[in-house]
Amino acid sequence: MKDDRNIVLTGFMGTGKTTVGQCVAEKTQRLLVDTDEEIARQAGKPISTIFQEDGESYFRYLERRVCRFYAGQRGYVIATGGGMLVDEVNRQVMDAAGLVVCLDATPDAIRERLAEQTGRPLFGSDWEELYERRRSAYAAIKHHIDTTDKTPEAVAQEVITLWQTSST
Ligand code: S3P
Repeated sequence: MKDDRNIVLTGFMGTGKTTVGQCVAEKTQRLLVDTDEEIARQAGKPISTIFQEDGESYFRYLERRVCRFYAGQRGYVIATGGGMLVDEVNRQVMDAAGLVVCLDATPDAIRERLAEQTGRPLFGSDWEELYERRRSAYAAIKHHIDTTDKTPEAVAQEVITLWQTSST
């Protein structure tokens, strides 16, 4: 029988969710949804502008809506924003709708990957505190893949193997 469970990628900013998601989608010939892109499209403005103009709680509201919508779909690769599955209810919703994989990386790898990038309102000088605060939420996710020192292709292959060998 065709396995139409969604493949859902989560993890802290800079763990490679979008890049790995693109690779997984290509290799499995599935459609990729990037939840941040979807939120920005619906709001008609970039994530950083939503944070500035409407505040984080409005962003989280849009995020919950997008989470529920895609949890109701089948056969997608879903690259979530790093905070989406920190919310316990969002986590349960996505868990019920597919294979959820948390991508991990060391703080040094995250710092290096995001050094040149802008547009992440929560990647400020205190991001390491946020990383610590979220540890327990990410730890509640069943499947983890460490991405430190690995190429996106190698991580994508691990995700696919997990998907082929696991039932949850
Ligand atoms: C956030 C992560 C971002 C984006 C928003 C909030 C977070 O996505 O959803 O800026 O709370 O960790 P990435 O993880 O893709 O950077």
